[in-house]
Amino acid sequence: MISTATFRASRPPIVGPDVPKPPFPIRLQGYIQRGFGRGGRDLGCHTANLPDDALEPITSATEAGIYYGYAQVSNQHQGPEQKGSLGEEDLKVLPMVMSLGRNPYYGNKKTSAEVHIIHKYPTDFYGHYLAVVVLGYIRPELDYTSRESLIEDIQTDIKVALNSLDRPEYSKYSHKPLIDSSSPE
Ligand SMILES: Cc1cc2nc3c(=O)[nH]c(=O)nc-3n(C[C@H](O)[C@H](O)[C@H](O)COP(=O)(O)O)c2cc1C
Repeated sequence: MISTATFRASRPPIVGPDVPKPPFPIRLQGYIQRGFGRGGRDLGCHTANLPDDALEPITSATEAGIYYGYAQVSNQHQGPEQKGSLGEEDLKVLPMVMSLGRNPYYGNKKTSAEVHIIHKYPTDFYGHYLAVVVLGYIRPELDYTSRESLIEDIQTDIKVALNSLDRPEYSKYSHKPLIDSSSPE
């Protein structure tokens, strides 16, 4: 694994080509699962976990790492967890950063895909249907010696994602719904 210190010392503000290149775009969708809850509690960064059976389109095409793209949450939900409806702004196609892998800092046993949607939600939305389009790769997963440096890097990932999505061939993906009216069935 690449040295965390070396990697952290020089982070480019924008990543990837001006037009998404294969294997992107990669589309993933499923009902949001409960994670360990550490994202919001320890890191100040809420994440929506995709179910394990939703990961094949990305695990078969690329490796663990931090990715960027767009996400859309639906008011359709499964299970008893729903707390209330999300509003119009919460249901739009919104920018996201996604961690794919085993979170070396926490040493998880299995691969997960955790999506942080760059938006302030009024409530949590476990059990809601989530669709994402992954458009590019930001960096490898790193192991950290402190929680503060992980928090700092997630904030950098968010800036890099917003800069990278602010190009016409990326932002056009935000103009089309990711969830059509017939989803999820
Ligand atoms: C943009 C982003 C980047 C992340 N980068 C790393 C990383 O480099 N190394 C790591 O161990 N975990 C990384 N994480 C994963 C966090 O450790 C994880 O999301 C957090 O533990 C929340 O997990 P939980 O929902 O299962 O509690 C990243 C998460 C996000 C959203």
